[in-house]
Amino acid sequence: MTTQSPQTKYLKDYLTPAYLVDQVELDFYLSPTATQVASTLALRLNPDRNGVIEPLVLDGEHLQLVAVEVDGVSLEPADYQCDDVSLTIPAPPAQLTVHIITRIDPLNNTALEGLYQSNGIFCTQCEPEGFRKITYYPDRPDVLAPFRVRIEGEPADCPVLLSNGNLVDQGVLDDGRHFACWEDPFPKPSYLFALVAGNLVCLEDHFITLSERRVLLQIFVEERNRNDCDFAMESLKKAMKWEEQVYGLEYDLDRYMIVAVDDFNMGAMENKGLNVFNSKYVLARPETATDNDYLGIEAVIAHEYFHNWTGNRVTCRDWFQLSLKEGLTVLRDQQFSADMQSAAVKRIDDVALLRQYQFPEDAGPMAHPVRPESYVEINNFYTTTIYNKGAEVIRMLETLLGRERFVEGVRLYLKRHDGQAATCEDFVAALEQAGEVDLTRFRRWYTQAGTPEVQVVCHYDCATQTFTLDCQQSCPATPGQPDKEPFHLPLVMGLLGHDGTDLALQLASDEAPGGTSRVLELTQSRQQFSFVGVQEQPVLSLLRGFSAPVRLTMEDRPEDLAFRMAYDSDPFNRWEAGQQLSVAELLQLYRQQLEGQLSTGLSQVFVDAWGVVLTDNEADESLLARMLQLPSEQYLADQLDEVDPQRIRAVREQALRHLLSVHREKLLQCYDRYSSAGEYSLNPVAVGRRRLVHGCLSLLMLEPDELLQDRCLRHYQQAGNMTDRLAAFAALVDCRQSPLRDQVKEDFYRQWKHYPLLLDKWFSTLASGRHENTFFEIERLLLHPDFTLSNPNRARSLLGAFAQNLAVFHRQDGNGYRLLTEQIRRLDKRNPQVAARMATPLTRWKRLEPQRRALLREELVALQQENLSRDLYEIVNKSLV
Ligand code: TRP
Ligand code: ZN
Repeated sequence: MTTQSPQTKYLKDYLTPAYLVDQVELDFYLSPTATQVASTLALRLNPDRNGVIEPLVLDGEHLQLVAVEVDGVSLEPADYQCDDVSLTIPAPPAQLTVHIITRIDPLNNTALEGLYQSNGIFCTQCEPEGFRKITYYPDRPDVLAPFRVRIEGEPADCPVLLSNGNLVDQGVLDDGRHFACWEDPFPKPSYLFALVAGNLVCLEDHFITLSERRVLLQIFVEERNRNDCDFAMESLKKAMKWEEQVYGLEYDLDRYMIVAVDDFNMGAMENKGLNVFNSKYVLARPETATDNDYLGIEAVIAHEYFHNWTGNRVTCRDWFQLSLKEGLTVLRDQQFSADMQSAAVKRIDDVALLRQYQFPEDAGPMAHPVRPESYVEINNFYTTTIYNKGAEVIRMLETLLGRERFVEGVRLYLKRHDGQAATCEDFVAALEQAGEVDLTRFRRWYTQAGTPEVQVVCHYDCATQTFTLDCQQSCPATPGQPDKEPFHLPLVMGLLGHDGTDLALQLASDEAPGGTSRVLELTQSRQQFSFVGVQEQPVLSLLRGFSAPVRLTMEDRPEDLAFRMAYDSDPFNRWEAGQQLSVAELLQLYRQQLEGQLSTGLSQVFVDAWGVVLTDNEADESLLARMLQLPSEQYLADQLDEVDPQRIRAVREQALRHLLSVHREKLLQCYDRYSSAGEYSLNPVAVGRRRLVHGCLSLLMLEPDELLQDRCLRHYQQAGNMTDRLAAFAALVDCRQSPLRDQVKEDFYRQWKHYPLLLDKWFSTLASGRHENTFFEIERLLLHPDFTLSNPNRARSLLGAFAQNLAVFHRQDGNGYRLLTEQIRRLDKRNPQVAARMATPLTRWKRLEPQRRALLREELVALQQENLSRDLYEIVNKSLV
């Protein structure tokens, strides 16, 4: 906690480290409230200082300093300075060995940063700046060193003692304690250090690499979770194989370890050779995990594994370069998941996520470039912009270069910077060279924030058989960036003939027609592209696969959208056409309501097109399920300047009821056709069918007669897997008048109260209820004995779901704002990182309608007056500017 306003850090102030570390030796004497850490550092003045001595400044926070020695001589307090954040030795020799003993308190570490305990298991989280809570150290990613770690603990509490790299020694001591020594041969920054110790069981497998080395694979979990690790292990092996096949990269240590813990601030952490995971991304069996949980595990296991090259072997020079590892690794996990599942649906889900979270961030007070220029608290910059927009930027490079050259470029980057700390510029330079392209303008994606807007007007000239696209781009102002330069945008496109097939494309500058899909490169603020030899008025399919993260506006006629919804050969654009059509419909209903006009209801074109999708027997079921979903409330809100969230909900529900009333029979048929039970499988067809069935069920349950309620109850009771059970549970939870509601609520609780991940689902499903009474339910749930702010998953399950439930959170009386603010206030005292993250919904006040805007702003202003963590301070202050 801090009383003065925290300092801003700037990229332009970057300086190389004054001292380099040649070797780290760490000795841990584990104890829950008084762990002793002895560190021996071999340090040397950075040669770039040309021998001019500088003070040695080591980072350290919340540490109890026990002793300091330099070259074997113990220092008196007068020989060094120690404050809240650092230990300074004013004039050390150019080469020195420092020995430091500190004491820390893992049990009472509620921030879950540094060394802490989760259910009695010692574990660490050092990224980005947690290592300084373990010992004094140059805690910055451009200081790389080999680590040797010795851990000593009680065999009863900590039979398992783990750290990075290879196990080189272990044994039992005379006093009954035991120890293990680990050595990591790969120099690494402190943020990749990890230690785990506790009562864990280990599941083992192995992987033979391309060059036929045998790698031991181990997953460590608490005994009760022993049977829930198979899927994670399979995912790991698939990821290892995939990376070898696609990128030609193999694993480099003899052992790869994953540990699952219940208390974790984020999803997982890529510590070298010893990943620590939120148990949510490891544990799964059909009775407890949903399809989406499984897919999440597959993706996160792969993500952390891929970091071994993109992040660990080549790391970041400074935290402004965070997207260098995160954007690239997200892209790679997206590519992997696309290959494992339905690629089209994976792309749709990734884009929906980007629009739901990143677009609003880019349009709000926390907007920042993929490579930020400044920050107050780096923990706040693990954002959807760094991760998801970062991945989109690299995906555009892939589109511009083609897969083959792109992979070559990534390999060149890794080879050139292996063992180093690199920058985003290093990455772009490698791709520019391998791709033989000019990326001068493209680099603006790293420096300019905001979502570009692209406007396209088409013209078909029958006489000359020419089809012309007139493209313009602009980008709205973002904090600190009033004016923007044009971006380099790859626009993938095709032209559809009247029978729905793709036409061969010939630009005026081409010698002959070639291909049915093209990448147009928009690099100016305005540019025209003309196609010749176009014999009929075509329908344009632009931005296929969402080839650039922009907001595209075209004056599409509803008939053309419906046509593309049925025929576009690009599945993403089939879905996108449907989304555009629904957004237009829903916004029209919204405006009619706002202006007190009589509602026209949905247009026939739309209702029919939706029905065609519902009865399509050919397309991928997952794709159909996605196409039947109306745009989310959040996405609709993002299209409006003055948002009334309750009106959005009302309008969306009106549209759903309209579709239900027209297509009820077809929905029932579709539900019947696919809702056959059977062995649980995660193959894309099975997943797609469940998605379709659950889409139908939730729509049908908007107006359930008793017969239907009964079927839903049976669906719940007879479900052979959690995907089915949870879908039926969620549908029943919304049946306010039905006695079944309380019955299943009780039943679910009783059945799963001892399984934390499912108790989380119980809380979040109840908090996602659509009824107005949901608010009072949430108030009661806050007092439930199983609710706690100490566990991030649990806190998020209730408060996160609540804040996403827009119509409930944005109650007109402002009580929703008060409730969330109060909980964040409490959480901030325990865990600032999670509190700041959970405060995001509070920052979106500017685009609300005036009454709610004022109420929400009031809460923020009150919060601003208080003694906040640096994390929350930055979020609250920036949102009030
Ligand atoms: N590097 C991790 C990942 O994306 C992210 C992460 C895990 C993290 N734990 C964290 C970031 C704690 C900040 C704080 O794979
Ligand atoms: Zn990552």
